[in-house]
Amino acid sequence: MSTVSTSPQSQAVINEAVQTLHDGGLVAFPTETVYGLGADARNAQAIEKVFTTKGRPSHHPLIVHVAAPDVFDLVVVDWVAVVAPWARDISEDAVKLMNAFWPGPLTLIFKKDKSVLGEITGGQDTVAIRAPAHPIAQELIRKLKSGIVGPSANRFGKVSPTSAADVRSEFEGEIGLMILDGGDCQVGIESTIIDLSSGDHPVLLRPGIITPQEIASKTGITVHLPGQKMEMSLLPRVSGSLKAHYAPTTPLRLYSPGRVLDALSEFPDTKTRVAVAVWDSESALSEDGHPSVQFHEVEVPSNSAAFASRLYRTLRDLDEQGWDLILFPEPPAGQEWDGVRDRLQRACFGSGPSSSSHASN
Ligand code: TXA
Ligand code: MG
Repeated sequence: MSTVSTSPQSQAVINEAVQTLHDGGLVAFPTETVYGLGADARNAQAIEKVFTTKGRPSHHPLIVHVAAPDVFDLVVVDWVAVVAPWARDISEDAVKLMNAFWPGPLTLIFKKDKSVLGEITGGQDTVAIRAPAHPIAQELIRKLKSGIVGPSANRFGKVSPTSAADVRSEFEGEIGLMILDGGDCQVGIESTIIDLSSGDHPVLLRPGIITPQEIASKTGITVHLPGQKMEMSLLPRVSGSLKAHYAPTTPLRLYSPGRVLDALSEFPDTKTRVAVAVWDSESALSEDGHPSVQFHEVEVPSNSAAFASRLYRTLRDLDEQGWDLILFPEPPAGQEWDGVRDRLQRACFGSGPSSSSHASN
């Protein structure tokens, strides 16, 4: 955990943000995963504003962001005390997971405390909670002395923002939206979500940088992957699980190793300007026999964590450059790639000029 102290100027900015939240306003804030669109989790009207500003259907539940008390020499945080105002039936597995991964990119689903507003949970009896690792997020939450609901700070269905400038471009029309600048997000894709609410076994709802393998090796806990049937029943609960999501407006497709030209075949000849992401570990494409297509190569990291941290940045940048088509290499097999594979597949499905008409988060 970083103990970097912020400058007096940013202290004043954070205090202003706390006041804005306290008064029922919205503040976009940095986390280590992506930027969130924050509101006081105890203020129903402020939460309504989050849904209308994002254009998100109101039955899609939000994550409550919490923070440990500001005691720098505290070796062990009492996470049970931190989540107690929001959650009940906190199991031993939950304590192990919080101790191992918080603050960090792991969201846990609990049975909710009765005080938690139905606006947050989409009327369900469960609540999602996460303690972000970014020092600005932590300070904001501590000073507000509440939880902060924070969906990713993008318009519904679009690519999540990983910089303050991304948030600004998502909400250009929203005059006066306060945005805290905490630099580029290190993780780059949204948190791993684990459902603990059944009291039975933990279930993975959204893959992220923290994998079931890492959880098993650090805590001994076995996380179950949702079965096919279960995934279907979860669709309305986890908006990130809608097929179309994280979508650029330029058509996006994946290509299998060495098969760039195959990926072009479903597009008419007019698709002549194509941006192709290539592994930095591999040599450039051989453009054998396709003179009508102009390829522009962009290197992407062959390390999964580095790839994740650059994924949304690269998609946004390419989307703004006006290519006819964007091609990405299919991520290799392995849990460490599951998070980015999940985001890329949904981004492909929702991509294209009409992507705003697809239903998604
Ligand atoms: O990394 C992250 O988690 C980021 C940063 C800002 O913290 N937040 C984020 O929020 O990704 P959002 O709203 O874009 O995605 C939250 C996901 C949604 O897919 C939602 O359906 C799911 O969490 N979720 C929230 N409450 C839930 C619940 N009670 N049961 C199941 N899923 C839930
Ligand atoms: Mg989102």
